[in-house]
Amino acid sequence: MKKILKWIGIVLGSLIGLLLVAVAALYLMGKARMEKVYDFPPSGIVVPTDEASIARGKHIVETTCIGCHDADLGGKTPFIAVDGIMALDSVNLTSGEGGIGGEFSDEDFVRAIRHGINREGKPIFMPAVKAFAHMSDEDLAAVIAYLRTAPPVDRATKELQVEPMGFVIFSLGVFGNMPVEDATHENNVTAPAPGVTVEYGEYRLTLSDCHGCHYPDLAGGKYGDPTFDIIVPNLTPGGDLANWTVEGFIQTMRTGVTPEGRGLNSNVMPLDEINNLTDDELTAIWLYLQSLPALPQRTGTE
Ligand code: HEC
Ligand code: HEC
Repeated sequence: MKKILKWIGIVLGSLIGLLLVAVAALYLMGKARMEKVYDFPPSGIVVPTDEASIARGKHIVETTCIGCHDADLGGKTPFIAVDGIMALDSVNLTSGEGGIGGEFSDEDFVRAIRHGINREGKPIFMPAVKAFAHMSDEDLAAVIAYLRTAPPVDRATKELQVEPMGFVIFSLGVFGNMPVEDATHENNVTAPAPGVTVEYGEYRLTLSDCHGCHYPDLAGGKYGDPTFDIIVPNLTPGGDLANWTVEGFIQTMRTGVTPEGRGLNSNVMPLDEINNLTDDELTAIWLYLQSLPALPQRTGTE
């Protein structure tokens, strides 16, 4: 009997030991990936100061950035906080106290928005970077031009805090990749001319990161944040949109109520940003969605 107990003890002890080694390895791997230093060639983007470019930048910011950085661009604190895992604020983008606007050079802004790294070259946790990598030089320059003139907001936001368990969970793939790992990192990016065209619709939809939630093929699927139990709808003609008109689509984006009378959860759908898109931009997005192959609704993540 004693012998058996001793063996059970040895086996359990070894298993716990192995588990600790595995957790330590995951911790180290996660930390190495989340704190890796990157370097990319400078973009050479020249930031304009004319009224038209600033107005263009304001429009892009109001349709693309305010959902996460708040309507006044002063940042949300916290943006996401999970006890014992991590605390993430979205940064104050203005030149007010606690903001980065006064400190960042133009290339610092490009590094953050196009590449997903901070001034030390370390990855930032800004989910939309993969989408912003497709923002044209001209639009990115306009965004920076506007941020330089945006009304200053005094708000202190904190740097990303990751607890040891956060690094472990990251290694297990729960948060996906770091945005820097998914971006294309190209310079000299161009965009189709703004207009009511399929091509511009694709570009505009990409900047709004509709893919980030509705999946790269836009057939929807399980929502990425596991704390929500939501199936994100299919936007291809294989879903509800097959029976909508362009008017119904625009009305859904403006009111958050679909032609079927279903109210959309605005905590997940960034309707406050999407509502700032013009009718022409929404029509272009609609044309692009209608041009897609009809795919069946995805219900999982694969
Ligand atoms: C989906 C949410 C989201 C969207 C959309 C978003 N941001 Fe961010 N942004 C964040 C978060 C969160 C951080 C903080 C990241 C961190 O600390 O790791 C951040 C950080 C930044 C930083 C600071 C980087 C640094 O080095 O500290 C800049 C600059 C920035 N965002 C600009 C923008 C601009 C410009 C837009 C619109 C074109 C935008 N963001 C849209 C969430 C977002
Ligand atoms: C942050 C995640 C997120 C982003 C970004 C996002 N969506 Fe959604 N979207 C959702 C979710 C979740 C739903 C389902 C909401 C509900 O049922 O309450 C939804 C619903 C919809 C619907 C309703 C479809 C139906 O069949 O009822 C349309 C249309 C839509 N989104 C279009 C878009 C477009 C266009 C974009 C980009 C401009 C976009 N979404 C960006 C998460 C997102």
